[in-house]
Amino acid sequence: MLYDAKDQTLINQDELGFHWEDSYEYGGSIVKMSKVSQEGESYFGLGDKPVHLNLKGKRFENWVTDSYAYGKDTDPIYKAIPFYTGLHHGISYGIFFDNTFRSFFDFSHERKNVTSFWAQGGVMDYYFIYGPQMEDVVANYTDLTGKPNHLPPLWALGYHQCKWSYYPEKKVKEVTSKFRELKIPCDAIYLDIDYMDGFKCFTWDKVHFPDPKRMVKELMDDGFKTVVIIDPGIKLDKDYWVFKEGLEKDYFCKRADGPYMKGKVWPGECYFPDFTNPDVRKWWASLFKELIEDIGVKGVWNDMNEPAVMEVPNKSFPDDVRHDYDGNTCSHRKAHNIYGMQMARATYSGLKKYAYPKRPFVITRAAYAGTQRYTSSWTGDNSATWEHLWIANVQAQRMAMSGFSFIGSDIGGFAEQPNGELYARWIQLGVFHPFCRTHSSGDHGEQEPWMFGDEITNIVRSFIELRYQLLPYLYTAFWHYLNEGTPILKSLVLYDQEDIQTHYRTDEFIYGGQILVCPIIEPNSRGRRIYMPKGKWYDHWTGKAVNGGREVWVDADIDSMPLFVKEGSVIPKFPVQQYIGEKQFESITLEVYYKEGKAESSLYDDENDGYDYTKGMYSERSFKLNGKPNELILQQHKAGKYITRYQRFDMKLIGLPFKVSKILMDKDELNMDSFDQVTQTISVNKDFSEIHFM
Ligand code: GLC
Repeated sequence: MLYDAKDQTLINQDELGFHWEDSYEYGGSIVKMSKVSQEGESYFGLGDKPVHLNLKGKRFENWVTDSYAYGKDTDPIYKAIPFYTGLHHGISYGIFFDNTFRSFFDFSHERKNVTSFWAQGGVMDYYFIYGPQMEDVVANYTDLTGKPNHLPPLWALGYHQCKWSYYPEKKVKEVTSKFRELKIPCDAIYLDIDYMDGFKCFTWDKVHFPDPKRMVKELMDDGFKTVVIIDPGIKLDKDYWVFKEGLEKDYFCKRADGPYMKGKVWPGECYFPDFTNPDVRKWWASLFKELIEDIGVKGVWNDMNEPAVMEVPNKSFPDDVRHDYDGNTCSHRKAHNIYGMQMARATYSGLKKYAYPKRPFVITRAAYAGTQRYTSSWTGDNSATWEHLWIANVQAQRMAMSGFSFIGSDIGGFAEQPNGELYARWIQLGVFHPFCRTHSSGDHGEQEPWMFGDEITNIVRSFIELRYQLLPYLYTAFWHYLNEGTPILKSLVLYDQEDIQTHYRTDEFIYGGQILVCPIIEPNSRGRRIYMPKGKWYDHWTGKAVNGGREVWVDADIDSMPLFVKEGSVIPKFPVQQYIGEKQFESITLEVYYKEGKAESSLYDDENDGYDYTKGMYSERSFKLNGKPNELILQQHKAGKYITRYQRFDMKLIGLPFKVSKILMDKDELNMDSFDQVTQTISVNKDFSEIHFM
């Protein structure tokens, strides 16, 4: 029994507690824990499960699995994150089952009053994390398994365009040029497996890409960072240097009785590096030298690292494959769930080394708890259906509450083809995911923002522009995630667990602490009902204030979506640019949302790349707002040594209940001509300490 020492509230209670269960297949090796489900208890977490946010009444398996065109309720899929949060009687706790074997969680499914978890091997090692606030549970779990090692380069938070595959070079350039021509912001272009020679990693198809270094540079000159895919399977080919080195060094995985683990992937028969071996990780990292240092590739996309094997029923290695596991040799039963993570980790250290002094950018498909330290991720091969738009929304929220915020889906759907309406609605959601990339299998047609007619192109552009405007806000949220483990996306239950109305909501979420987002996930919608959390919110589009704690109808035709800002927020916005660094801004906007009372906001900035920020070269501004019926005071505190490039803030006041007739800035009275009464804006020096509107 676990009680809160403060007031003896029961937090968590064992049923049988730790016990063994015999299994015909696995002998007595199942370690099991069972807990009493408390009255009204809800459960959240577990990574990428494509089901309702509240896991109550369901049973799950954690076994990292390649899941092409998975659907709602498919289980397991790509990620294994054996961590959940329980919530009952307004208090919350978390359990991280630190066991990499195939594991199972049963949330009052088999037996109504029992929640249990078990694994097919290993030990019963679990961490109990008490809140009572869910946000603290998630932050502590993130801290335990690892916050991101550093900030992503800012461009990685821009919009990315991908397809399987853009080739030859001419096609790549056509796509990137079109972005610039149509003025749709974009920072990254992806090369899928066809850039390689016969799908051999670390090679180039010299017919389609005769001079990769030149191409990468030309793309870069136009603001496009090139990201390339690298899979784990190494083709059996005696003339292929990576294969030869791997063999010579004895770095490939082997079966229990000695032969190499051979499996079919894109290049045909392959061997697979044992990424659980530190020497192999080092070697793997070194393979990136040419790609990154010489050719200038800026990001690497690790795919098929579950590891996926084609044409075998279990889609992966057999259980008997041996792994080094950092010197504690084991079978695949133990190493499977962390194989992809170790690959991403090795890739990350290669990029970190060769991209220096710039920051690395990695994206992975497979993940285990803690993978957020090294890489971003996407939710795998989804489909272009409305149901998948719903899935993308819950998956991103669930990943964020599982410690992994740098996540997004294949916008528009990977398999099948979206119509314009679905694509537009998906972009509207996708621009609020920390990782924002359109990707498609390309079998069913084109999926660039301009493929669905002018109306959709314009809508897509305006939402990608909004993402670029909000980049300082997202970057600040990432800074908090990095330092405090605060998830960038918060499901309503994570935002306000005391309000039981939030316990079964799935669609609405809070983006970066102050913006309420609710995607439209049904066709032919003119709007929708949303649950507005308690407090006062302002409609982002109209500035109209709405009282929360209830469901409201929000108009949202195809060119709009429900978007609200919490009262008292100070939201920073950049001017629109086509890619990060395209423009040097003289000023940035601060949207100040009036509140009667106090509120705090922050704004983080640095060089947007590199590591100087770790040595104090950052700028963190906190804004303390204090609103009264006829005045508004905004105080600013600054930390860090970085001098931001912009000089001024264009401050825009929203929802002010009085007419401004006097403005004091650091005790000096400003000329009222500098304040535009119609737009409620004023341009001020960025270094004010206090500004007072009366
Ligand atoms: C896998 C990936 C997908 C990629 C394809 C080809 O299906 O999930 O994103 O495009 O392989 O590399």
